This record gives sequence, C-alpha cells and structure tokens, in this order.
Amino acid sequence: MLEVIILAAGQGSRMQSRLPKVLHQLSGRPLVHYTLDAARAAGADRIHVVIGCGADAVEAAVQAPDVQCHLQAQQKGTGHAVQQAIGACHPDSILLVLFGDVPLVSDTTLRAVVAAAAEGGIAMLSAEVEDPSGYGRVVRDDQGDFLAVVEHKDASLAQHQLREINTGVLAGKANRLNDWLSRIQNNNAQSEYYLPDVLALAKADGIAVAVVVSDSALDTLGVNTPQQLEYLERQHQQVLAERLMTSGVLVADRTRLDIRGSLHCGRDVSIDINVLFEGQVILADEVTIGAHCVIRNATIEAGVQVRPFTHIDGAIIKSGAEIGPYARLRPGTEIGEQAKVGNFVEIKNVSLGTGAKANHLTYLGDATVGAWSNVGAGTITCNYDGANKYRTELGEGVFIGSNSTLVAPLSVASGGFVAAGSTITDDVSGDQLAVARGRQRNVEGWQRPTKTEDKS
Ligand code: UD1
Ligand code: CA
Repeated sequence: MLEVIILAAGQGSRMQSRLPKVLHQLSGRPLVHYTLDAARAAGADRIHVVIGCGADAVEAAVQAPDVQCHLQAQQKGTGHAVQQAIGACHPDSILLVLFGDVPLVSDTTLRAVVAAAAEGGIAMLSAEVEDPSGYGRVVRDDQGDFLAVVEHKDASLAQHQLREINTGVLAGKANRLNDWLSRIQNNNAQSEYYLPDVLALAKADGIAVAVVVSDSALDTLGVNTPQQLEYLERQHQQVLAERLMTSGVLVADRTRLDIRGSLHCGRDVSIDINVLFEGQVILADEVTIGAHCVIRNATIEAGVQVRPFTHIDGAIIKSGAEIGPYARLRPGTEIGEQAKVGNFVEIKNVSLGTGAKANHLTYLGDATVGAWSNVGAGTITCNYDGANKYRTELGEGVFIGSNSTLVAPLSVASGGFVAAGSTITDDVSGDQLAVARGRQRNVEGWQRPTKTEDKS
C-alpha cells in the first residue's frame, strides 16, 4: 500500500499574507490541490495532510474520501510534522512525503522515488539547480554515495557551493521511517526536527539511500514568496499553452494567455492575445477568440466567433453565433445558432433564439427572444421593480425598434412589432404594431430664443 503524507502546516511567513500558504492559488486552484493531484497520480491509496496554520481552512480545502488530516499544533520542523501523521499509517505501507508548497512535482518522478524506496528501504528526490541558496544540500562521499542532507543554515561555506539540493520528496517503509524519526534531534541552527535527518540515520544503519535526481525544474520549484508564486504561475501557464498548441490550437502568444481551470478545445481553434479562461470552458471546432476576452464557465460550439474585449460568464453559445466586440454575457445565457450579439450588449439569464440579433447598446435580462427576432439598439428590458424580477417573452420574428423600454412581465407574440422609442407595458400580439411615445408635433413659424442683454 502507498500512503502519502503532505506537509501543509506552515504559515509561509514570507508570503506576508493572512491566507495559509498552501491555499494561495496557482492557475486558479489552491497550491495544495496540485500536490493532492500528484499524490493520486502517483498511485496513493491513502493521503494524510498535516495541518497547523489556518488548519480549518486547509482541512476544508483538502476534504475528500481518501484524505485524512492531522493537526501539528506547533511547527517544530518537517520531521516533527511527519510524526503527527505516521501513527495513522500502516506499518508495512510505503510512505511518500510531499510538501504542500511544491505544487508541480510530476507523478512520473514520484513513481520513480516510490519504486526506489520499495527496493532499497528509503529514497529521496534531489535536483541540480543553478542557485541552491536556501535549500538543503545533498552531501556525498568521494565515491559519490549519499552521506547526508545539510540545511542551508547549518551548512559550511564549502557545502554552500554544492548545487545538488534536497527537493523535500522522500519515501520509505512506514515502520522504518517511524523508527528513524523517533531518533532525530533538534540540535541545529533552527532548533527544528528535520525530516531529511532520517536519511543519515538510515545510512548509519547500513541502509543504502537511493537518490533519484530530478530532470525537471518544475519538480523542485517551491512557493515561499509572492515572487516565486508569480514565477511558477508563468512557468505553468507556458506549459498549458504548449499543451494546447501540441493539440493543434493556434495560440497567438503563449505569454499572453492565462488558463485558470480547465479548457478543452476542438480542431482549428484560434486564440488571440491577452485572453483569460476561468473555470470549465469548452471551445468546439473552429471557434475563434479575439483579443482581450475573459471567458468563464462557458460552452462555445463550433464556428462561433468571439470578437475582442468580450466578457462571457456562465453561457452556452451555439454554433455559428457571433459575439462582440465588447459584449457581456452573464450566467444563464444561451445564445442560439447563427445569433448575433454586438457591442455594448449585456445579457443575463436569457435565451436568444436561432438567428436572433441584439447588435448594439442593449440590456436583456430574464428574457426569451425567439428565432430571427431583432432587438434594436438601445433596447432595455426592465426586469426588476426594486423587489422582484420578471420575465420578458419575445416570440419569433419579433421586431423591437431602437431605444425601446420593455417593462416586464411582458410578452410580444411572434411577428409583433414595437415602434422605436416606445415604453411597452402591455402585451403585444403578433399582428400588432405597438407605439408608446409622445406623438411628434412640428411647430410652424417657431422663433429661436435670443440672448437677453447683460445689464450687470
Ligand atoms: C525544506 C527542507 C530542505 C529542502 C526544501 C525544499 C527540511 C528541514 N528542509 O526546507 O532540505 O531543500 O524544503 O523545498 O525538511 N512544514 C510543516 N510543519 C513544520 C515545518 C514545515 O508542515 O513544522 C511544512 C511547510 O508547511 C512546507 C513544508 O513543510 O509545506 C516545508 O517547510 P519549509 O519551512 O518551507 O522548509 P524549507 O526551509 O523550504
Ligand atoms: Ca519551502
């Protein structure tokens, strides 16, 4: 059995935030979720999360049937943290320890570490880095065999030169780890119980420590500061953009695309610069997304064109529709096939039928617009009376003249016609023209006002 212990009790003081570090977001998800994913992908049968700072919030964030939380009331070091959970693990399990602040470690790497531990008894993951500052260093003997991990703060000047660092990932048999953990001391620069000290104890017991050397920088990148979080975000976004391009999506600029959630794309999809996707977004074949769009929780069907500066949240857009530029679609919106939504149009909780159009400067809220209807520029649905919301129902082939005010509850039957500038409060039937505005009067011989003389 493989059990994973994720350490997530630290405050992350260098983040200078009230939020526990592992709840800071990477691509729209808390850091600790990535570690959970990696644990599961590596084959974890059970996951233990050690919580401490912000325990309630972290516990709520990791809740799942395969997850058990253990409180580390005081943060006395990574070794002490593992001790809080190890009692709940089966003695014969292989234990894999991960850090909640190292989110992008790959499951392939983790499987290699677990396999090495299953063979030899204990294994760790190291990495060669350009700048090892702050990390624990891997110290080896003349033959190149593992000797110990020395923390940066405890290392000698010569050891500071070592560029092979401890990533923090470690695996071993639970009962053996438990034994070594009970023997570690805190007589070091930080007066902490260091988890990597178990490696030197294993070595002293004649156990060969297997060191797996990581071949991917993402395995090691941890989050201790806002700068590191931003760096990791940019790295991760480039990985996501690369994946999209590998699957055939045309991305205008990998450095100007952000995906915070899941994005599924069909064939011949193109995405222009500065686009942000959030939540679950599906783009079917031949969808084009213009520059500067924000698209959240949306299903966009084949051939839809979304023009620049459009904001979409919680909408379904059927094939062949054209949206924007500068359109805003809010939750509950369904746009029919071939429909058109133009500039400065806000739509909320509306079904816009096949081929229907709302092309300019309009608010449609809580409405149904039938197929091939046309909503003129400046039309507003008055869906709210200050207390309740009401629906506006427009049938098929309805024409709403420009600058109309539709006071809900209201229905205009199929074929109905509303004259421009009307405030419509009564239902309109299909064979009617509704006009509701002051009649035009042209005053003959009208004299323009003249300026009165200034007497002051
Ligand atoms: C640790 C390692 C170091 C390694 C580095 C890699 C130790 C002693 N040092 O250092 O060798 O190079 O990670 O990133 O293990 N935590 C707890 N309880 C505690 C202390 C820490 O849960 O009492 C958790 C933290 O929340 C964090 C993780 O353990 O998720 C690592 O702790 P951190 O203090 O960041 O260790 P580093 O100094 O980075
Ligand atoms: Ca760290």
